[in-house]
Amino acid sequence: MASSRPLRSFQTLLTISLFFLSLALTFLALLSVKPKPHYSTSLQPNPSHGWFDIVAEMVDTQKIRIGLVNVDDDIKSVTYGLAETVSVDFEPVSKEKKWEDFFPEWIDEHHKWGRPRCPEIPMPRLEDYLGLDVIVARVPCGEGKTEKEGIRNVWRLQVNLVVANLVVANGWVQKAAETERTVYVVFMGSCGPMQEIFRCDDLLTRIGDYWVYKPELRKLKQKMLMPVGSCQIAPPYAAEKGQEIWKRRIIPTLKVRLNHTAYQRVAYVTVLHSSEAYVCGAIALAQSIIQTKSTKDLVLLHDSSITSKSLRGLRAAGWKTRLIEPIRSPSARRGSYNEWNYSKLRVWQLTDYDKVIFIDADIIVLKNLDKFFVYPQLSASANDKVLFNSGIMVIEPSKCTFEDLMSKTYKLASYNGGDQGFLNEAFTWWHRLPSKLNHLKVFNIKGNPNHEIPDDLYTIHLLGLKPWMCYRDYDCNWDMLARHIFASDSAHRRWWHVYEAMPKKLQKYCGLTRQMELRIRKWRGIAKKANLSDGHWKINAIDPRKHLLI
Ligand SMILES: *[C@@H]1O[C@H](CO)[C@@H](O)[C@H](O)[C@H]1NC(C)=O
Ligand SMILES: *[C@@H]1O[C@H](CO)[C@@H](O)[C@H](O)[C@H]1NC(C)=O
Repeated sequence: MASSRPLRSFQTLLTISLFFLSLALTFLALLSVKPKPHYSTSLQPNPSHGWFDIVAEMVDTQKIRIGLVNVDDDIKSVTYGLAETVSVDFEPVSKEKKWEDFFPEWIDEHHKWGRPRCPEIPMPRLEDYLGLDVIVARVPCGEGKTEKEGIRNVWRLQVNLVVANLVVANGWVQKAAETERTVYVVFMGSCGPMQEIFRCDDLLTRIGDYWVYKPELRKLKQKMLMPVGSCQIAPPYAAEKGQEIWKRRIIPTLKVRLNHTAYQRVAYVTVLHSSEAYVCGAIALAQSIIQTKSTKDLVLLHDSSITSKSLRGLRAAGWKTRLIEPIRSPSARRGSYNEWNYSKLRVWQLTDYDKVIFIDADIIVLKNLDKFFVYPQLSASANDKVLFNSGIMVIEPSKCTFEDLMSKTYKLASYNGGDQGFLNEAFTWWHRLPSKLNHLKVFNIKGNPNHEIPDDLYTIHLLGLKPWMCYRDYDCNWDMLARHIFASDSAHRRWWHVYEAMPKKLQKYCGLTRQMELRIRKWRGIAKKANLSDGHWKINAIDPRKHLLI
């Protein structure tokens, strides 16, 4: 038993040191309530994952660091050669949140009741996941089994945004703000990522259900600075809560780059198809843009229904004209007014421009729009429900986007058979521009009996009968009770202001035809018989075009 004392004291020492060690460990564990991500190492290659070889060839580092987003556990444990993997942790967006919460029909643009804010979409702590070379993500197609059901799915949006934010945070090198690191993304799943966020131009290869992307960092960065939905007006560059980690690093340079749009090739674009009914509208549109002192290119796409005489007028008005094959809308009836409305898709073929602002020919511009070229695709003003109005859109032409859209024309149904319905299915994730950028001339709320338009508008979108189809004396939508919602003499006058300032030889393209004149008279007669209380039918019209029918 003589030896028992030193043994016991050794045991005591051991116990005490173990106690202190565990205390220290507990303390450490307490300190890091949020554990640092744990990188798994010493991995084995897996030949069944073809994307890995592709990425391994491209990534120029000894050891590839891979972030896994929404990857199932069985795949998480799959191991690769010289690679480290880390599973990216984030809280799934609440199931209560619906697409309509992020794309509400109406928002308080003028902040009468406080600045509108978007609901949260939780993001990972980006600073915990820096130094990644590749992000591997399983993108959901949405709850529904079909593409249609999945396109407005908040969980799908969240996964896409998580990946995009990781790419930006990892691609941006802090010390040298002007340098960028390449970050690759591999999406797994039959539907691929949201094309609104990950451009098809950045798709390197697709092998079965693996989609390998090399995102263009600057473009992705700008999109991640946009609000998460149309729940807020998109500022030219924006920042959302929870993205502070790279907001601090990005914004100063982003500002400089975005304000400096001179390097971009930009143009205003419109499309004329099916008939000559909008030739005058397009001439007035070009002139209105020029009257706002814009010097950007004006490009007009037209089909063969536009005569060479009209083309001369359109060119004299400022348009560079280009002949296109019209595109039929698959759901429109033959001979219907919107049969060829998908011709608008040809705007994506204008790849000699980086960005264009598309404008319908029944719009006039009142204030210079050049500053809106900084916005990313697809930026537009709201229409109704979760939809944007396709009358003015910021678009980035791209060959593969055009092909992608064409391939979808039979898959995605348009709610109205027109381009607007289709484009709203193809671009469900869009950025909201102020409504005064594309002011829809429609009056469906009371309290404005004369239908006065606000005076700070950028444009007027002339819904209903067009001003050049009426006498200049008044808006002939007044003559039809069913069109009263479109009637506005103040909007009408604004269009005729543009007309007055046009050269005489262009005004000639806005004459009245016999047919137009007969239609105006017919409805004036009907309005008189009905004794319409607005009394516009009583106006003694002195429009000289009445006597110079074309
Ligand atoms: C289709 O195009 C015509 C002519 O440009 C236009 O008047 C009409 O509003 C469009 N229809 C739809 C549903 O977009
Ligand atoms: C037409 O309406 C006005 C009031 O708006 C009324 O005073 C007048 O009697 C009406 N005329 C006829 C013929 O109904």
